[in-house]
Amino acid sequence: MDGQQFRQWQALLELRTGVCISAERKVYLQTGLGTRMRALGIRDYQAYYQYVTEGISGAVEWSALVEWLTIRETSFMRHRPSFDCVARHLRARMSEGLDRPLQLWSVGCASGEEAYSLAIILEQLLSDSAIQRRDYGIWATDISQQALDQARRGCYPARRLGGLTDAEIHQWLEQQPDGQYQVAAALHERVCFTRLNILELAQAPIRDLDIIFCQNLLIYFRRWRRRELLNQLASRLAPGGVLVIGPGEIMDWNNPSLEPVADDRVQAYRRRESMECLE
Ligand SMILES: C[S@@+](CC[C@H](N)C(=O)[O-])C[C@H]1O[C@@H](n2cnc3c(N)ncnc32)[C@H](O)[C@@H]1O
Repeated sequence: MDGQQFRQWQALLELRTGVCISAERKVYLQTGLGTRMRALGIRDYQAYYQYVTEGISGAVEWSALVEWLTIRETSFMRHRPSFDCVARHLRARMSEGLDRPLQLWSVGCASGEEAYSLAIILEQLLSDSAIQRRDYGIWATDISQQALDQARRGCYPARRLGGLTDAEIHQWLEQQPDGQYQVAAALHERVCFTRLNILELAQAPIRDLDIIFCQNLLIYFRRWRRRELLNQLASRLAPGGVLVIGPGEIMDWNNPSLEPVADDRVQAYRRRESMECLE
């Protein structure tokens, strides 16, 4: 792949997904493209580019190619302090008297471990006798259909259980004869997995969220785009809702409707109840 071809593919991927592949990761791009080109018997990057960018068959091929170009590494409770922050925030909200059903959103959920981890946090919280039981739902969205298919199956190898304690594994997952772990129906029925490209947020009727959890997705995007998408996500929070991103994922961003959550271990922002306090 010569420099001009690399730039052409890099630009197409960024235009369609927001993901920006640096020159150091050219081999990663080549490997993904090569896999699809071999499957189709196409030997030339230019010919494949033409194929992917033209007509209906190009659109179909693009969906197959995206599966090879997305990084889907994830695990349960991947960054535990962020999940603890969600639990603390929701507990405080409920003790303040919030009594409607709760709505959460895992943006860039990959194969679902993050969304099910949020469900575990909610179940733990709502099992506290001091808290009044209420309904909740979790939206989980990703661009990768393969990741979403696995998420809906909810069956994982042991290495994905990551940050779960033994007690949590015992309570929320059941080991299968093949050694994989199946999430409990009580978690499964709470999560709605849907395909959504974050660049097409405007199409998603998901709003008034109590928690938006978006980690390890924006790191692949340019800084200006991270800021733009964070502003869009912020506008989907309910008053008092919290946006949680990965620690260090953005430094130079602030939004007047949000205030940072005071906790050095996490990067999270709470939507103000109203803008009056700014006046
Ligand atoms: C590294 S995984 C992060 C998974 C999980 N949030 C975590 O922190 O463990 C990044 C995910 O973002 C998804 N992704 C990449 N570009 C996307 C886009 N434009 N819209 C939606 N999801 C995207 C990938 O398919 C992948 O599943």
